[in-house]
Amino acid sequence: MKKALALTLAAAMSLSLVACSGGDKTSQSSSASTSTSAGSSSAAQTTTVANKDKPLVWFNRQPSNSSTGELDMTALSFNEDTYYVGFDANQGAELQGTMIKNYIEANIEGLDRNGDGIIGYVLAIGDIGHNDSIARTRGVRSALGTAVEANGAIDSTPVGTNVDGTSTFVKDGEITVGGTTYIVRELASQEMKNSAGATWDAATAGNAINTWSASFGDQIDIVASNNDGMGMAMFNAWSKANEVPTFGYDANSDAVAAIAEGYGGTISQHADVQAYLTLRVLRNALDGVDVDTGIGTADDAGNVLGEDVFYYDEATRSYYALNVAVTAENYQEFLDSTVPYAPVSNQLDATAHPTKNVWLNIYNSADNFLGSTYQPLLEKYDDFLNLNVEYIAGDGQTESNITNRLGNPSAYDAFAINMVKTDNAAAYTGLLAQ
Ligand code: BGC
Ligand code: CA
Repeated sequence: MKKALALTLAAAMSLSLVACSGGDKTSQSSSASTSTSAGSSSAAQTTTVANKDKPLVWFNRQPSNSSTGELDMTALSFNEDTYYVGFDANQGAELQGTMIKNYIEANIEGLDRNGDGIIGYVLAIGDIGHNDSIARTRGVRSALGTAVEANGAIDSTPVGTNVDGTSTFVKDGEITVGGTTYIVRELASQEMKNSAGATWDAATAGNAINTWSASFGDQIDIVASNNDGMGMAMFNAWSKANEVPTFGYDANSDAVAAIAEGYGGTISQHADVQAYLTLRVLRNALDGVDVDTGIGTADDAGNVLGEDVFYYDEATRSYYALNVAVTAENYQEFLDSTVPYAPVSNQLDATAHPTKNVWLNIYNSADNFLGSTYQPLLEKYDDFLNLNVEYIAGDGQTESNITNRLGNPSAYDAFAINMVKTDNAAAYTGLLAQ
C-alpha cells in the first residue's frame, strides 16, 4: 500500500470526530493535523485504541545507548504490548569466533600464506555503536586470543591498521596446531561506514579490502566480517580470487552458496524464527491472547517454537533467537535463507484472526541481511498471520526519513520498528504518544 502524501482537511476532520466520539482518545486530532493520510476510512476503523496503547515491536536494533550498550527500558516497556525481537548476540558471537578458530586448526596446512609464522586476519566492523556488531568483534578477538580488556569488557575499538602488531586495542594471540605455535594478529579493522553515514556498508568493505590487500595482501590469511553483506563484498573484491577464507554472519543465501566457492562460513541468526516472532507478538496482542501463543504454546493452527531456537527474557521484554554455525559441513541445509520455519508456517484462520494493519520499517533498504533475508521472510509470515503490513524502506542514515512516514499512526493497528540508531527510540514513541 502506497500512501498519498496529501493532507486533506476531510481526513483531519474525520479523525478528530472519531477522536471525540472515541472517549479518552485525546491524541487523534493533534496527530491528524500534521499527518499524511492513508485514507480516512481505514484510519477511522482503527482509532478506537489510542496510538500509545497499540502493540509495538522493536526488531533487529535493540533500543539501547550506543556508547554504553545499556538497554533503553523506557522504550522496551513503552506500553503493555511492547517487545523486542532479536537474537542472542553473545552466543552467536562466540560461535563465529569458534568457527574461525576451528577452521584455522583444521586447515593450518598452507594457511600462513607468506610463511612468516603469523596468521594475519582483517576484520570488517559494522557499526561501533550497535550491540550486535560489538559482540561479534569481541567474539572473534576472544576466540583468536587477540582480545584485550578495557573498562571491564573486551575492547571492540577498530584498530585501523596494525600490521606491526603495536595496537593497544588488541594484542597478538597464539595458536598451537600440530606442535607448531603461530602468532595470530589482527592486521586491520575498521567500521564500514560510508561518507553519507550508512553503517554495515558493503561497498565500503569492498574498498577497504582493496586498500588493505594492495599494501599488505600477502600477510592476510583470514578475512572476518561482522556480517555477510560486508563479507561477500570483500570475498568478491579480493579473497575469492586469492583463495583467502572469509567469514561472515547472517547466512544470507548468496553467502551460503559461496561456501561452495571458498567462503569460509557464516552464522545463521535464525532469521526465520525472528521474522515470525516480530509479527507474532503483534498478532497476539491484537488478538488479546497470551503473548506466548504460537510461540512457546501451540496456537489453534498448531504453530509452536521449541526451546532449541529461541528464548524470552521477561525482564527486558526481549525475544532472542539462537544462532547456528553454517560451514562446509552443513551449508546445503541453509541454501535458501527465505524459507519460513516449518513449525510456525501454518495459516491462521481469518475469522478468528481477522486482518489487521501493521506499519513496519526497514532502517536501510540497502542492508543485505534485512533486504535479502529478513523482509522476504516477513512477507511470507504476514500472509500466514493475516497481517496487512506496510513496509517502509529507510535510507540507513536519517531517522527522520523514516519517522516522516509515520505521519498517521492512527491508520495502523500495530507497529514494528527497526531504528537507524539504537538511541533513537523516542523519535518513534514520541509520535505514538502524541
Ligand atoms: C545483521 C546485519 C545487519 C544489521 C542491521 C544485524 O543483525 O547481522 O547484517 O546489517 O543487523 O541492523
Ligand atoms: Ca602470515
